[in-house]
Amino acid sequence: MEIITAVKGFKDILPGEAGKWQYVEEQARKIFTAFGCLEIRIPILEKTDLFARGIGEATDIVEKEMYTFRDRGADLITLRPEATASIIRAYLEHHLYAADPVAKLYTIGPMFRRERPQKGRYRQFHQLDVEILGYEDARIDAEVILMLIHFLKSVGLKSPQLELNSLGCPSCRPSFRESILQFLQGKEGDLCEDCQRRISTNPLRVFDCKMEGCKHIIAQAPVIQDFLCGGCRDHFAEVLASLAVFDIAYTINPRMVRGLDYYARTTFEITTDFLGAQNAIVGGGRYDGLIRDLGGPDIPGIGFAIGFERLLAMMPADQCDDFIKPPALFIAALGTEAQKFAYQLCNRFRMQGIPTEMDYTAKGLKSQMKRADRLKCRKVLIIGDREIEAQQADLRDMQTGEQVKVTLDNPEEWKDRI
Ligand code: HAM
Repeated sequence: MEIITAVKGFKDILPGEAGKWQYVEEQARKIFTAFGCLEIRIPILEKTDLFARGIGEATDIVEKEMYTFRDRGADLITLRPEATASIIRAYLEHHLYAADPVAKLYTIGPMFRRERPQKGRYRQFHQLDVEILGYEDARIDAEVILMLIHFLKSVGLKSPQLELNSLGCPSCRPSFRESILQFLQGKEGDLCEDCQRRISTNPLRVFDCKMEGCKHIIAQAPVIQDFLCGGCRDHFAEVLASLAVFDIAYTINPRMVRGLDYYARTTFEITTDFLGAQNAIVGGGRYDGLIRDLGGPDIPGIGFAIGFERLLAMMPADQCDDFIKPPALFIAALGTEAQKFAYQLCNRFRMQGIPTEMDYTAKGLKSQMKRADRLKCRKVLIIGDREIEAQQADLRDMQTGEQVKVTLDNPEEWKDRI
């Protein structure tokens, strides 16, 4: 019979890789916590409206990439394509802002987008997501970026490239939009079908189009930086000045609009050429109007999401060694009595936090030693009837081959030497 395989674009994380995931998660938790962030865990399913309103109806994500279905004839629900909208939904639903609008939150988990799978692009992927709510101050923008880069370096990324832009605010963006509309006039025929539609829905989305023809046109278009109002210009200048405090290098990319509609002012991406076309490993920015648009008070916010799979693909090989911790001890037991003893000791050590393994198939010493070797156990305790009788056995160091005699009636005595 044929085996059933995983769904296209959905990937298993096998035991050999999982250690790397745990390591990255641990680093993230440590660093995010040091910067004052608290973990929030949110559901994988949300009402579709949350994303339609939050991310924007005219975005690729909402238009064509969401896994949306009717919940047995009731509400339309969607597998979350990102975490920002969900975190804000939780912040509003539980009135987390009531006592203090400031909330620094992070979450780690799977997201779902029905994109065409390729290297670095999956239909289920994972994000490390941070959202800092309640601060408008430009120093926070730089602080968020500092934390992000500090984290990326801590897991071995040598030189993350930071691209920055400001997308302005509701008072300056309309004039930019107007100038884009004028610029695109007469060029409609050269745009892809999606972009032709975007002219009437959200012309800024044309900047985000991956089609060569559209990219070529947009390369000549006016840029938002020339339209920023005084407030946005000052804010952006202060972000840059605050980044300079920490010597954070960046390039300003005036054509970066990000693929989600909620952004205002600072936006950023961390890119690498390592992954070919899928070169963004992090995307983020400020979304000062989003909390209000989702029915809450006028509270600003900024955040980012790191693509877990893309980050792992970029980590240097030497950072990826040693994630599978081998057992400390293997008990090679020959004969019924020795097996009984091994079974007890093995589990007693495990309960004390000493990873211990044994063999249950009553094989000879040679094959048990082979197994100990394959598992890369540091030490092996070899016991048979004779050792049980003498209550003494050899503890062998698998690297040096050195053997010492240990007592079997009081393993506590030598357990620290494992
Ligand atoms: P995003 O740019 O859509 O932003 O996604 C962030 C990161 O998720 C990307 O840079 C990429 O590394 C990863 N990613 C996205 N799609 C895929 C995919 N199909 N396969 C593998 N990795 C993928 C957001 O999601 C925003 N919520 C970020 C944010 C948080 N902005 C403010 N707060």
